[in-house]
Amino acid sequence: MKSTLTLILSAGAVIAVLFFISSTGKKAPSIPLDKMHHTITIQEGCVTCHAPGKQAPLKDTHPPKEQCFICHKVGNKVMKSINIDLI
Ligand code: HEC
Ligand code: HEC
Repeated sequence: MKSTLTLILSAGAVIAVLFFISSTGKKAPSIPLDKMHHTITIQEGCVTCHAPGKQAPLKDTHPPKEQCFICHKVGNKVMKSINIDLI
């Protein structure tokens, strides 16, 4: 039974360390609040410019290139609500 407890505690320690690393890692830049971005709300729209050979390709070092919105948030909530009103 003691080994079960040790396992649980060390699993918890690993999770804590991973959480610490991810919270101090590189922060994804906000999505700019310009004309090119304020109308795009679905991810399919992003890759019309952010793909190899397009207007603004992602760096090779870019982290996983799916689900943009998990990491990239729109820069400013107030501006965002104004933009939504304009659409
Ligand atoms: C009409 C083309 C276009 C579309 C569509 C587009 N982008 Fe962009 N995006 C650009 C350009 C051009 C830049 C500026 C690139 C630069 O400064 O090097 C940029 C910059 C960015 C940046 C800031 C990069 C930095 O270094 O600060 C992020 C984040 C970003 N885009 C995310 C997205 C996401 C997420 C989507 C989909 C919701 C999207 N973009 C859709 C053209 C586009
Ligand atoms: C796992 C989190 C994550 C996801 C998912 C993600 N990004 Fe990023 N993105 C980042 C980080 C972190 C950076 C900063 C990288 C750096 O500074 O080297 C970045 C940088 C960028 C940049 C600046 C230029 C570059 O290549 O560094 C653009 C533009 C961008 N992302 C667009 C997108 C788009 C479009 C998607 C969806 C197709 C996407 N990102 C998905 C985390 C993410």
